[in-house]
Amino acid sequence: HGHGAAMGDRRPGEKKGFVEEMRFVAMRMHTREQAPKEGKAEPAKEAKPMAQWQPTREGYLRFLVESKAVYDAMEAIVASGASPMYGDFVDTGLERAEGLAKDIEWFCQTYGMEAPVADGPGAEYASFLRDISKTSPPEFICHFYNVYFAHSAGGRMIGRKVSEMILDGKELQFYRWDKPGGLDAMMTRTKAKLNDAAEKWSREEKDRCLEETGKSFELSGKLLRLIA
Ligand code: HEM
Repeated sequence: HGHGAAMGDRRPGEKKGFVEEMRFVAMRMHTREQAPKEGKAEPAKEAKPMAQWQPTREGYLRFLVESKAVYDAMEAIVASGASPMYGDFVDTGLERAEGLAKDIEWFCQTYGMEAPVADGPGAEYASFLRDISKTSPPEFICHFYNVYFAHSAGGRMIGRKVSEMILDGKELQFYRWDKPGGLDAMMTRTKAKLNDAAEKWSREEKDRCLEETGKSFELSGKLLRLIA
């Protein structure tokens, strides 16, 4: 994905900016099972191979609730103006908190379940984001990129698979991008904004941002394990 929808003169792949650098670092942190072409990492000891996942509705509801804590934090942080660079990332169309709220309600009604409180890996990630967004905007931007872009790639694959296994194929709002132009256009626009923001950074700030990728994988990995 990411190649359709031309947006003016901005086309990912033509204008290779800082997003390409972030993507390169992120892709290598995937295992080969996750991303057969670009993955280079050894799987974490605690992680089950996806082929062995046995998702349950309880676990998945927990994953949705904890994910909402992360997206609530992301979306509040960019709106807070804690750094002047955040304003560009309000209303990208990639926001997930509203859709997740609907999914959680649907889940509870459909299966007669009660939503747990987010007090696990999502709450942990959210509190980490609130801190780092104030102390280090370039590092926050790394998490912003990885969270939203991972969800549109691997996250979508996972959503489809899990839904077939335990939700009778129901497509959740979490995995739908209904705004005009759709996901490709929103990603293209957001990549251009990320590239623009990073153009103002020193090389040292760029490197700090790239070095944060591992933390993003670690914290998102804990969230994903709620599903397995
Ligand atoms: C891209 C799978 C977890 C960050 C991708 C791609 C795949 C994939 C197949 C390539 C998509 C493409 O080029 O079209 C998975 C699977 C995961 C997983 C199966 C877990 C089971 C993660 C995690 C992160 C992450 C934990 C970071 C927190 C990214 C990023 C991209 C990506 C930034 C690039 C997206 C883009 O260029 O649009 N993932 N991934 N992924 N993934 Fe993951």
